[in-house]
Amino acid sequence: MKKLRAAIIGCGGIAQTHAQVLSAQETADLVACADIRPERAQAMAKTYGCRAYDSLEALLAQESIDVVHLCTPHPLHTPMAKLAAARGIHVFTEKPPAVNESQWAEFRSLAAENVRVGVCFQNRYNPGTEFLKSLLATGRPGKITGARAFVTWRRDAAYYTESGWRGSLTTEGGGVLMNQSIHTLDLLCWFLGAASGVDASLSNHHLKGVIEVEDTFEALVDFGGRPAVFFATTAHGADSPVLVELLCENCTLRMEEQEITVRWKDGSVEHHRLADKLSPTGKAYWGASHGLCIGDFYRCVLEDRPFRNDIPGVSDTVELLLAAYRSAREGKEIRL
Ligand SMILES: NC(=O)c1ccc[n+]([C@@H]2O[C@H](COP(=O)([O-])OP(=O)(O)OC[C@H]3O[C@@H](n4cnc5c(N)ncnc54)[C@H](O)[C@@H]3O)[C@@H](O)[C@H]2O)c1
Repeated sequence: MKKLRAAIIGCGGIAQTHAQVLSAQETADLVACADIRPERAQAMAKTYGCRAYDSLEALLAQESIDVVHLCTPHPLHTPMAKLAAARGIHVFTEKPPAVNESQWAEFRSLAAENVRVGVCFQNRYNPGTEFLKSLLATGRPGKITGARAFVTWRRDAAYYTESGWRGSLTTEGGGVLMNQSIHTLDLLCWFLGAASGVDASLSNHHLKGVIEVEDTFEALVDFGGRPAVFFATTAHGADSPVLVELLCENCTLRMEEQEITVRWKDGSVEHHRLADKLSPTGKAYWGASHGLCIGDFYRCVLEDRPFRNDIPGVSDTVELLLAAYRSAREGKEIRL
């Protein structure tokens, strides 16, 4: 099988998962990596037998690559994606693709370039998500009439103070919504489609004076007359399983990590435990499906097929994310 030559930019935490996944793909060959902390790029290069650089620009000047993986802090995703796309290189970026409206306009414009662009919303590939999608597609649950979602995790001061970029509005762009619970917001859009309105608020409850970004986010999202309540915090005592519940005409569908409960209106209840179907990469509570998501991106590029998380495919989520921040800033509902 043809292999695409890959490079990883930003060799910190999540990049290790991308590198592991790439080394296990028949469709990919990790040839280079770059980090402004050269020791990080060198360590990755040594482990995976690739070449190390201290910037994206230096890597692009020396290497001929097909796909670049962006594993850098949030505000760098859009400019780095533009730089790579301008050279005809496909882009697979970590979330979020953009941190504000002007970046999003630039990122969206890459859809017109002659390259493929994918975003790492890997939880769409989780076994629980796939199970619910298939069940909904049978028509048995009926239409979705509303939803709720809860993300209750723990991030202490050290998580922010030791990172060098998290916690600051300039370098992280946002807190629990932009960074952690964006995946759950994405699942709501994956199930319910485009939002038509959002009324949201942000707080910093447990890290006052330590972080500028929010540790807690709550919103009422209007999905075309179907209300969804959303609550996310990093002030909880543990990384508890994410809960997503869909109210349907004929049942309630509850997903807590990979455990599904279907409560039918006739009183019958079904339980499905799908955790043993999880891929081994990544932490369970933020979704372990990087391998499935990245593997699908490479196959879509090679077979010239649309990718689930391409720019049109993630637009509902990014537009809701940005509208939620605007709603919280302006203190009013935003219609989309
Ligand atoms: N999909 C997921 O579940 C998931 C999980 C964790 C992190 N992420 C995302 O991955 C990205 C990175 O997060 P992380 O936790 O790995 O952070 P990290 O701080 O561990 O790693 C980021 C790396 O980027 C490097 N870097 C910074 N500026 C750079 C530049 N200009 N050029 C090259 N390298 C640069 C840093 O030195 C660091 O090594 C973020 O967008 C984050 O939201 C996604």
